[in-house]
Amino acid sequence: MIVLGIETSCDETAAAVVDNTKRVRSNVLLSQNDEHRDYGGIVPEIAARAHLEHIDCLILKAMSEANVDFSDLDGVAATAGPGLIGGVLVGTVTGKSISAVHNLPFMAVNHLEGHALTVRLTNGIEFPYLLLLVSGGHSQILAVEGVGRYRRFGTTVDDAVGEAFDKTSKMLGLGFPGGPAVEKAAKSGNPERFDLPRPLEGKPGCNFSLSGLKTAVRKTCEALPEGPLRREDVADLAASFQAAVAAIVVDRTANAMDRFVSGYGTGRTFVAAGGVAANGTLRNALEDLATDRDMLFAAPPPPLCTDNAAMIAWAGLERLRLGLTDPLDFRPRPRWPLDPSAPPAIGAGVKA
Ligand code: KG4
Ligand code: ZN
Repeated sequence: MIVLGIETSCDETAAAVVDNTKRVRSNVLLSQNDEHRDYGGIVPEIAARAHLEHIDCLILKAMSEANVDFSDLDGVAATAGPGLIGGVLVGTVTGKSISAVHNLPFMAVNHLEGHALTVRLTNGIEFPYLLLLVSGGHSQILAVEGVGRYRRFGTTVDDAVGEAFDKTSKMLGLGFPGGPAVEKAAKSGNPERFDLPRPLEGKPGCNFSLSGLKTAVRKTCEALPEGPLRREDVADLAASFQAAVAAIVVDRTANAMDRFVSGYGTGRTFVAAGGVAANGTLRNALEDLATDRDMLFAAPPPPLCTDNAAMIAWAGLERLRLGLTDPLDFRPRPRWPLDPSAPPAIGAGVKA
């Protein structure tokens, strides 16, 4: 079984071909960082136009690198939400067109499900598992019971973890995208120099709050001597911020682990996924926590944590195997929660 995947929900235009032996036959990606850099963040209209300009070429590249023809495919999957609707439309219309022309099943994939199932492609993890999904638009902890079966334990009440990295990066003058820049700067910094807040630490539940930390970073910047920030201050603040994020995430995840083990039993896997799961400090802290709680730890390799199309092709393949295909009039969804029955977090700001 061979599936083509298309991803266009944010600022990465991507196409990939994956098969049921878990071989990623091709995985191509074009980042729009240069287009958005001057704005310090993603501009939806620019993103949509860039997707439109590059998607055809990228699909052909993915097909040729995988050495397959459209007639070799068993299905085509495209991210159909959640995300920036202009980009999502470009990807779904392209996927539907290929499906119509080549008479292939079409799978409308939830981007979050792509992140959630990647670890089954890369590490062969079995259901059920506990998932921390941390990206630019989402921060959630979920029990993954099966394809399309998610139970949300917690989410952010304000900013997503990736958003906090991106805003901190901007405040520190480290540019865009923020996560990798903050991680790099933090390498030479002292994580203990600034005592930053850890909202909700020690409180029951699995919800996150990051906005107080973001405000504290801004106030710390303002309290430093006027003029451009010194290299050492930037490194120390990046390291202190990263340490605070790790502490917050570990604290929230520890509560989720207790809840997961009491509902699903011991010997299970804890999975970290989404762009922020590419962060080395966070991965190490989470791995230690999992070991402490007698859980196995798994996370996709960093390039498959951040947005890519292999995860969409794989989620599509998992759905195709179960007969979960979609009609060509499927309407893309700017918002699309993995667990629609989950109550909204207090304070809203819930992006899915
Ligand atoms: O999953 P993703 O590529 O896109 C979304 O679905 O949002 O996640 C992007 C987010 C951005 O906020 C980016 O700054 C963050 O993931 N990120 C990181 C790292 N690499 C990407 N955050 C911390 N450390 C990293 N190494
Ligand atoms: Zn993502």
